[in-house]
Amino acid sequence: SRSINLAVIPGDGIGQEVVAEGLKVLSAVLPQDVKLETKEYDFGAQRYHATGETLTDADLDALKKHDAILLGAIGDPSVPSGVLERGFLLKLRFAFDHHVNLRPSKLLPGVATPLAGEPSIDFVVVREGTEGPYTGNGGTIRKGTEHEVATEVSVNTAFGVERVVRDAFARAQARPRKKLTLVHKNNVLTFAGHLWTNIFNKVAEEFPEVTTDYIHVDAATIYLVTDPGRFDVIVTDNLFGDIITDLAAAVSGGIGVAASGNINPSGEFPSMFEPVHGSAPDIAGQGKADPSATVLSVALLLRHLGYEAEAARIDEAVSADLAERTGKPARSTSEIGDALAVRVAG
Ligand code: IPM
Ligand code: MN
Repeated sequence: SRSINLAVIPGDGIGQEVVAEGLKVLSAVLPQDVKLETKEYDFGAQRYHATGETLTDADLDALKKHDAILLGAIGDPSVPSGVLERGFLLKLRFAFDHHVNLRPSKLLPGVATPLAGEPSIDFVVVREGTEGPYTGNGGTIRKGTEHEVATEVSVNTAFGVERVVRDAFARAQARPRKKLTLVHKNNVLTFAGHLWTNIFNKVAEEFPEVTTDYIHVDAATIYLVTDPGRFDVIVTDNLFGDIITDLAAAVSGGIGVAASGNINPSGEFPSMFEPVHGSAPDIAGQGKADPSATVLSVALLLRHLGYEAEAARIDEAVSADLAERTGKPARSTSEIGDALAVRVAG
């Protein structure tokens, strides 16, 4: 019989609240014959304060045994910026070689957007997840003096760029519009930019059906606001991808519905699914967070594990729930989770 052995990392702030709802909907959508096993991991600020520890080798060994990971959010104002992010979240993405950071944006019917008119938004950003300026390859000299110099080196390897570009082409090929846009800044970041552009053009020859396009990242932020319908699949580096996917979320229903997958396509390591939003300490513990982004991340998780029908049921449930929100009083995190669980089960 089928089974899913899931690692659960609620993490910090609203992570706890939204993950509980994600699991509620996951249990409700799975057919009887699928055995769901979950194991919770205590990563985040609490562990850090209690033990001074971030992610250990023993944690990584334990996590490797799971089919997938569901993560809420990591980050807390009680810990200096970057410690938990680098010590838990980025360490996980790097250790498990999550080089495809998948971030779909779809403006669902009835969902408000700050954009004028009725834009049609349905694209997916393939953000490189293990290289770029995120590698921590930098340093500082004369620290704390007025002559301090800090560097932050963006690492781009032909191997790393080619595999993510190839993945993005395959995703574009599988979509009706078959269009792939490379977003970079090759007029200024000429070393990395040319590597990306050359590899992009080379791989394009293997995908003659895919229409290709190149846009500088600054111009891409304009088009995401003025003409988001032009995008189908976007491939870009780790930092540009981080920035444009927050903008993408803002124009397509907000950070409350933005889902993501940190994918290791070979399956050598478990992939990890998480809402794009952070731990939101300002509203943590109040039951105000929208669990939809986490629930949609559960759909990405199910799709990744081959449960396409169940993933589609979740997508439809969230879509229907969002469509019926207008004019109704705001619901709590668990009320939204309950409503979604009822929809996917029915
Ligand atoms: C994201 C977040 C992370 C990132 C932070 C928390 C390290 O912003 O998942 O987009 O920059 O990747
Ligand atoms: Mn981000």
